[in-house]
Amino acid sequence: MATATASPPDGGVSTLRRIAAGAAGVDIDATALEGPGEGSSGGRTIPLGRGREPYTVRRIAGMDDVEFIRTAIEAGFNVCLYGPPGTGKTTLVEAALGEGRVITQEFSEGTQVEDITGSFFPAPEKGWEWGDGSLTRALREGKLWFGDDITQGDPRVQSRVFPALDSRRRLTLNECGGEVVEADDGFGAIIAYNPNLPGTTFSEALASRCAIHVYVGFDAPTARRLGVPADAVTAAQQLNRHLEAQDPLAGIAPGEAGPATWAPQLRELLAFKAVARVFDPLTAARNLLGLCPEESRVAMSEALQAHVSGGVELDPLRVE
Ligand SMILES: Nc1ncnc2c1ncn2[C@@H]1O[C@H](COP(=O)(O)OP(=O)(O)O)[C@@H](O)[C@H]1O
Ligand SMILES: [Mg+2]
Repeated sequence: MATATASPPDGGVSTLRRIAAGAAGVDIDATALEGPGEGSSGGRTIPLGRGREPYTVRRIAGMDDVEFIRTAIEAGFNVCLYGPPGTGKTTLVEAALGEGRVITQEFSEGTQVEDITGSFFPAPEKGWEWGDGSLTRALREGKLWFGDDITQGDPRVQSRVFPALDSRRRLTLNECGGEVVEADDGFGAIIAYNPNLPGTTFSEALASRCAIHVYVGFDAPTARRLGVPADAVTAAQQLNRHLEAQDPLAGIAPGEAGPATWAPQLRELLAFKAVARVFDPLTAARNLLGLCPEESRVAMSEALQAHVSGGVELDPLRVE
């Protein structure tokens, strides 16, 4: 189902459509439910610059997603986006807030506390000079700090952001003589993470510091709007149904493996479209099979056979 499931103002009509669709055994997505001009963003796009494809606006709670994020930030809420990789969390933040207003901290295993707070570095003639980290800069400059893929960072590093994200709105730089950096007007925070990333947990402490939590999931209408072949979208939808049947916050039980641990998202589908253009749809389907994690290959292969290859069994691309 689309992430940006809308709750249009005409909830009654929508509900009737949903009931009618259910009775007819028809599977319809959120955009179809909205109907023309009933809260649909109508394919509105936002340029992302530097030769990038524009962002296709989606919906959150009956609003354009970018407006929803802007409104939440203007209201002083910290925002948390969560969902599988490749669904458009990072791009939504870029589209909603623009590069000039956001300081992004990409988290990985290698992210250090100093990346967030700052560190001394050798300066010619001066000996050592302090350089602010990403969060310190955002506080001082009154910008938005975006902690992307935050659970990929060491928990010790993640916890360093807590004082800036709660009512204290400040950071004490013990590393720099105990300087206290207070948030300037305009400071705010957004974080994004994948709840099913093995070996990571999203802490209660971080969750409670975000007033707004939005799930970003599989989005068939946007994929189709972006020109991904409809049969590939349908195949991806099949896998995503299994994935989303699970509580997105439940995580993966140790040892559990199966089709419900992975499903192709917008990123994979856009790659499918590009590969199909350069080569052909069958090659794109085999390529998708190759990038899919091993435990999901059977399910992916079945879905591609059913919807893309006309029943022909596919194997991943290989040198023969
Ligand atoms: N609404 C959208 N319109 C157009 N392209 C999108 C949209 N959302 C995501 N994309 C594209 O999909 C890919 C994955 O998006 P990304 O933001 O990196 O996902 P995530 O941060 O959830 O892993 C990117 O190539 C991005 O440009
Ligand atoms: Mg991302």
